[in-house]
Amino acid sequence: MSIRWLLSLFLLPSFACATIKPVSPGPGDVFRSGSPCLISWETDRSGSAQPWRNATIYLMSGSNLNMSMVMAVVEHLDETNMTSYSWLCPNVTPNADIYFYQFSNNGISTGSTWTSRFTIASYSGNTTLPENSKQPGGAPIPWGVGHLVPPKSTIPSSPIVSPRSRPLPTRPCETLHHHQCMGDASSTDT
Ligand SMILES: *[C@@H]1O[C@H](CO)[C@@H](O)[C@H](O)[C@H]1NC(C)=O
Ligand SMILES: *[C@@H]1O[C@H](CO)[C@@H](O)[C@H](O)[C@H]1NC(C)=O
Ligand SMILES: *[C@@H]1O[C@H](CO)[C@@H](O)[C@H](O)[C@H]1NC(C)=O
Ligand SMILES: *[C@@H]1O[C@H](CO)[C@@H](O)[C@H](O)[C@H]1NC(C)=O
Repeated sequence: MSIRWLLSLFLLPSFACATIKPVSPGPGDVFRSGSPCLISWETDRSGSAQPWRNATIYLMSGSNLNMSMVMAVVEHLDETNMTSYSWLCPNVTPNADIYFYQFSNNGISTGSTWTSRFTIASYSGNTTLPENSKQPGGAPIPWGVGHLVPPKSTIPSSPIVSPRSRPLPTRPCETLHHHQCMGDASSTDT
């Protein structure tokens, strides 16, 4: 009886407000850029919390206390009729064990849940080690900050388009789009 009471003490804080419990990816999982990446979760229907009918999954990186969004994976998921989602992992850098997913309802970071970290390898399967071996607080959980690799321009440098003037106006737009415009929930980019 006292054990059950103790257990409820431990379980309540983490499940009280979350109705999505991530299942995979799990520790050690490696996916390749351009390959299907399966995300799965369980729904918790035991509590009184409202089901998530407008869930967003974000691809994240960074330390536990300063997560930064890489991109939004999918929006407007109804968790009452789905327990998994598959997408093609994007081209990212570095190809390290630093990525994780965040589940949020209505795009609000409060009440979010997270998967463990996993690796997005390069298209050919190469990986590198995370930049940091410890969290800022000292916990031995490696981490790093990941970014999307913008698709290479397929337009060859031609004499008509000046390579000095053209790339500049397009790049900040692309960076803005990926890192800020999609509604960064948990970090303040510079
Ligand atoms: C949090 O992460 C962002 C993105 O990587 C970085 O620019 C910023 O300096 C970090 N802030 C702190 C307090 O570490
Ligand atoms: C889940 O239900 C919503 C309506 O609540 C619907 O729009 C959506 O297509 C359904 N998804 C699946 C996978 O059945
Ligand atoms: C649904 O979630 C999106 C973020 O993915 C948010 O912008 C929107 O306001 C939410 N809709 C409602 C009705 O809360
Ligand atoms: C991938 O790794 C292989 C073997 O370690 C190496 O020969 C190759 O150059 C690497 N490719 C890239 C793109 O880094």
